[in-house]
Amino acid sequence: MSVKNEILNILETNKGKTISGQELADILDVSRTAVWKAINLLKQDGYIIDASSNKGYSLSTSSDVVSSESIRMFLNEEFKEIPISVFKSLPSTNTKAKEEAILNAVHGTVIFSDEQTSGRGRFGREFFSPADSGIYMSIILKPYLNISSSVLITTAAAVGVLRALDKFTDEEAQIKWVNDIFMNGKKVCGILTEAVTDFESGNVESIIVGIGLNVKTKMEDFPDDLKNKAGSLFINGKDTSIRSQLAAEIINNILTISNNLENKEFLKEYKSRSLILGKQIIYTKNNKVEEAFAQDIDDSGRLVIVKDGKIEVLSSGEVSVKIY
Ligand code: BTN
Repeated sequence: MSVKNEILNILETNKGKTISGQELADILDVSRTAVWKAINLLKQDGYIIDASSNKGYSLSTSSDVVSSESIRMFLNEEFKEIPISVFKSLPSTNTKAKEEAILNAVHGTVIFSDEQTSGRGRFGREFFSPADSGIYMSIILKPYLNISSSVLITTAAAVGVLRALDKFTDEEAQIKWVNDIFMNGKKVCGILTEAVTDFESGNVESIIVGIGLNVKTKMEDFPDDLKNKAGSLFINGKDTSIRSQLAAEIINNILTISNNLENKEFLKEYKSRSLILGKQIIYTKNNKVEEAFAQDIDDSGRLVIVKDGKIEVLSSGEVSVKIY
């Protein structure tokens, strides 16, 4: 690891605390000039580092720059080596991830962008992705699974995000089948899962799990049509400089669950945090609006409904659901 990344590591894990230049030089066994140079490089990258000549350096608690290293330092040991690319701006991390998947990116590769100019949601909807506000990232999975299991990955990803939110926020988040995460009645996260298939064999070669999480997007910044529907994790000025840690936790959870997809335990969690189970819902299928009772989620992640006294099963690709 470079001196710059080692120093970033130390400052991130001691955010807000001052560490002297001599101490850093001793820990890393380098000169104080090398420390000073590395600090300047970090400042150029946008890190807010308070430097007082007689005390030392401290990474400001308001510093929220995301880099591959700042994510990596919070990853579980088993995932420490995954490739991570962080961009200032991209049209869409899912589009970039698809390109990388075709070029044989390895299982677990992460593409993160600070902003997206054409972020995509399900059914061709736009996903609002302003700079410095959220987590917009895609994880490439190389599942050695059949396609019916890979449908479960969206469900697994939602549970992965939920577990991470439980760790970092006091509010209880809930899942609206299949891929939306709500907090206080507003959508804070959407997940778009896309498959890359081999043209000849039709086999799923890679699955791209795209996560869009509004971490600190200000209410007034949302476009008018989203103001009543979209929300953010932190809206009341709490310490919000946690995007790297939160992104890492989401990656840890999603890789852990999807690497053990045959263990369906996560489905229990998914169901217990469902916003729609046990309720009347309205859903749109083939452009027709229907009403039904949401009864269960089956082992393949499909929604089991009761409509006109009959049980039916809905797949995520074709249906969008509203609470009655
Ligand atoms: C939805 O709400 O329907 C899903 C939204 C998914 C948005 C994420 S942001 C990262 C990734 N890149 C995209 O273009 N979309 C997903």
